Amino acid sequence: MPSYRARLLTPDPDAGSGAVRYLDDALIRTADGRFETVAPYRGEIVDHDLRPSILLPGFIDSHVHLPQTRIVGSASGPLLEWLDQSTFPEEQRFADTAHAAVVSRAFAAALAAAGTTLSFVYTSVHPSAAEQAAQALSERGLRAIVGPVLMDEHSPAPLCLPADRALPALEALAERWHGHDDRIEIAVIPRFALSCSAELMRRAGELARRRGLWVSTHLAENPAECAAAEARFEARDYLSIYEDLGLVHEKSLYAHCIHLSDAAWDRFAEAGAIVAHCPDSNDFLGSGGMPIRAVLDRGIGLTLGTDIAAGRSFRVPTIASRAFDNALRQGHSVSPGTLLWWATRTAALALHRPDLGAVHPGLQADFVLLDVPEWVESADEALAWTFFYADAPPPRGTWVRGERVWDRDAHRAAGGLFPWDEVGR
Ligand code: GUN
Ligand code: ZN
Repeated sequence: MPSYRARLLTPDPDAGSGAVRYLDDALIRTADGRFETVAPYRGEIVDHDLRPSILLPGFIDSHVHLPQTRIVGSASGPLLEWLDQSTFPEEQRFADTAHAAVVSRAFAAALAAAGTTLSFVYTSVHPSAAEQAAQALSERGLRAIVGPVLMDEHSPAPLCLPADRALPALEALAERWHGHDDRIEIAVIPRFALSCSAELMRRAGELARRRGLWVSTHLAENPAECAAAEARFEARDYLSIYEDLGLVHEKSLYAHCIHLSDAAWDRFAEAGAIVAHCPDSNDFLGSGGMPIRAVLDRGIGLTLGTDIAAGRSFRVPTIASRAFDNALRQGHSVSPGTLLWWATRTAALALHRPDLGAVHPGLQADFVLLDVPEWVESADEALAWTFFYADAPPPRGTWVRGERVWDRDAHRAAGGLFPWDEVGR
């Protein structure tokens, strides 16, 4: 029964949304991969004294593109130009399974090193590359909801796979990986309306429903994209394209959601769909500001996505600080405690995982360890350093289900600089 002594910063699930629990000196015990004791330290002998670092629940990244790991910072936006010039050429390289394997391992290391314990991962269109992704994420010990993007039209020919090939391959992937070791789930991901036929999207939605899989795609990210999608599908608005194909429901996750009418937001909320808010990506591609009040006022499930590589950081706290900026530009001030919830517990609940997202007895022991200065001694200071100190060092360590999946200092001692440097093997 491993035990740890550290500072503690966590959402307090008993006290409700936005409530934070901070302990300057905490005892945390885990058993069978779950938190068993979370209490003030009272002189017990512990296995690991981690002070003065601060222990938090693992972060949840709800929208991240594995095959874009190597193109972070490609400044060729806005969206449609960036896809053509930077993204699609890079994703074509994933036809090569050996390349996919190398980048998949690097990606999994980057997530673990960022303190992310659950992620929703888009891979390239290639079934063999999705297999490599599931393998690498599983080997690293991370939780992930992962799937290949589905594309069959209006995209470079090497990235188009017809429904009759893509969907059986996806089913086979789900057979092998869905529920694997209780950490990996397979998702159904029509990339976006502009790269999919109606038939592909409809059949993808049916497959997801039949197997109980998450559906995810991009929605209303950029004005030119919205206009092109609405014209091509002769749709009254962008959301209706997905609605008419059976893709908008309580197990669907939509990235960006920037340019939607109030009426569309009402339908979105009514359907029980949830949002992957990607504020850093929205800034980097000049896509616009996600209207945060539209989400909060309707009680829509909210998650945060790095959206690598239109987003520029694997670190969810960095993305949360961009979410703060985005909201403030719209006249809405988000409390730092609420940012902590968005990065962890709020996302867990939106993704139907009430067993994740807080350091709390009975929940899964997914946690991360961050360095903060010695003099930090309150919740407000701990939140400030966690979310807003842009020069913070990377996390010291990351654990999933009580097992260590990242050790920064060991990696450095072995000569590793970037997370994906394969050292000490
Ligand atoms: N829309 C369709 N594909 C993508 C993608 O890879 N990234 C982003 N940000 N938007 C998209
Ligand atoms: Zn995306």
